Amino acid sequence: MEKNKKAKEKQDKSAVASNLRDFFIDGLKDIYYAENALVKTLPKMFEQATDQKLKTAIKDHLAQTKEQVVRLEKTFESMGEKAEAKQCHAIDGIIKEGEEIMNETAEGPVRDAGIIASAQKVEHYEIATYGTLAAFAKTLNERTALDLILKTLGEEKKSDMLLSYIADTNLNSQAVDGKLQSKDLNAV
Ligand SMILES: [Fe+2]
Ligand SMILES: [Fe+2]
Repeated sequence: MEKNKKAKEKQDKSAVASNLRDFFIDGLKDIYYAENALVKTLPKMFEQATDQKLKTAIKDHLAQTKEQVVRLEKTFESMGEKAEAKQCHAIDGIIKEGEEIMNETAEGPVRDAGIIASAQKVEHYEIATYGTLAAFAKTLNERTALDLILKTLGEEKKSDMLLSYIADTNLNSQAVDGKLQSKDLNAV
């Protein structure tokens, strides 16, 4: 037992980031994992969603997410690093929760509201991560990395706002009793 603990400590130490640059690269690996996981998850959300605006938003964001993966590869490259993924437990948890919500809701406005809730948790995680990475890139004076990260950060913020708009103008009120209602009545 003690031996295992020592071996684990040794292993952990070799993975310890001792400066901001290393910590920044670790963050890139984390979000690289997350974006790749989302490329696999967004099609499932698309299939389960029924509202046309929501479906279009998910489809567009999937295309954007694929571009973000490439942008991250360019970010690694600009730092002279190989693009590598490191398991992100946070995104795994958010995705798992989203799958549970899809299984536990009736298809239609209620499930759509659940999909929006999950998708917004994803966006907020991404906004927090890219915001931090942008601050690190700025401190490290990595201009190319900063520009690439800020572009993606802008896309994540827009995507989050679009999801709020879809929920506020239409979906959430339909979900109150789970049925479609007149759209005119729902604008807040
Ligand atoms: Fe993303
Ligand atoms: Fe996103």
